[in-house]
Amino acid sequence: MRNVSEATVTEAVIYKFDGCDNPRLKQIITSLVTHLHAFVREIEPNEAEWFAAIKFLTDIGHTCDDKRQEFVLLSDVLGVSTFVELINNRKAPGLTETSVLGPFFVENSPALPMGATIVQDETPSDLLVEGLVHGPDGTPLAEAVLEVWQTAPNGKYDVQDPNQPEMNLRGKFTTGADGRFAFRTCLPTEYPIPTDGPVGALLRATGRHPWRPAHLHFMINAAGYKQLITALYFEGDQYLDSDTVFGVKDSLVVGPKPTGDGANQSVAYNFGLEPAA
Ligand SMILES: [Fe+2]
Repeated sequence: MRNVSEATVTEAVIYKFDGCDNPRLKQIITSLVTHLHAFVREIEPNEAEWFAAIKFLTDIGHTCDDKRQEFVLLSDVLGVSTFVELINNRKAPGLTETSVLGPFFVENSPALPMGATIVQDETPSDLLVEGLVHGPDGTPLAEAVLEVWQTAPNGKYDVQDPNQPEMNLRGKFTTGADGRFAFRTCLPTEYPIPTDGPVGALLRATGRHPWRPAHLHFMINAAGYKQLITALYFEGDQYLDSDTVFGVKDSLVVGPKPTGDGANQSVAYNFGLEPAA
């Protein structure tokens, strides 16, 4: 097509994809072009602004490596991670709600025996976390695998902090026949998402704080059930209502209880999994 104009350019681009024989891909690319063009039509960026946008995305890519995922972070702070998660996890009552995966999950965390601590340095393991993994009718799920990960008291994950042992505060636990799990750890802490990259620059430029409330991440897999990615948050945290990645849900907020000896606390939580489609 020649002589495209402001009025016809969107239609011209969509027409280019008319031969796409994958209906879902065609739907996605058509919608993408429609909304992207509507955005440009509304914003009317000058060329310096458009180049800045391209440089921003280029910088996001350059900030990613095998331990850092800046695109996930961008998706998180724009609320898209939570939005996609909500669309894909319309839960029945009694099933555990989801929360953001975040950029700090790593594969191959160590398999640990039930009741073990995930703390690998001298930090006291003064928090007990225990509970049940169950199906929609409450049936305990044996052989469910829980992967857990969290920050150290300095607010950093092991992968962000060369002073922590590798795989510190990460572990993998498998439920027994009773569906129960238990492990020890320390209380996680509030932390700012990484602000030394382009996402941090975006937050600063727009007057947003980078903080997340303290939380303990879970990824739970059981045969025949949909993977559950969620997190537990803690009562009283000052960032519960302003989490920079929009991850907090009331049903995921817990209050650690003293266990009786004064120094230790415990959290009990039962995770309800949805059968696989
Ligand atoms: Fe996190």
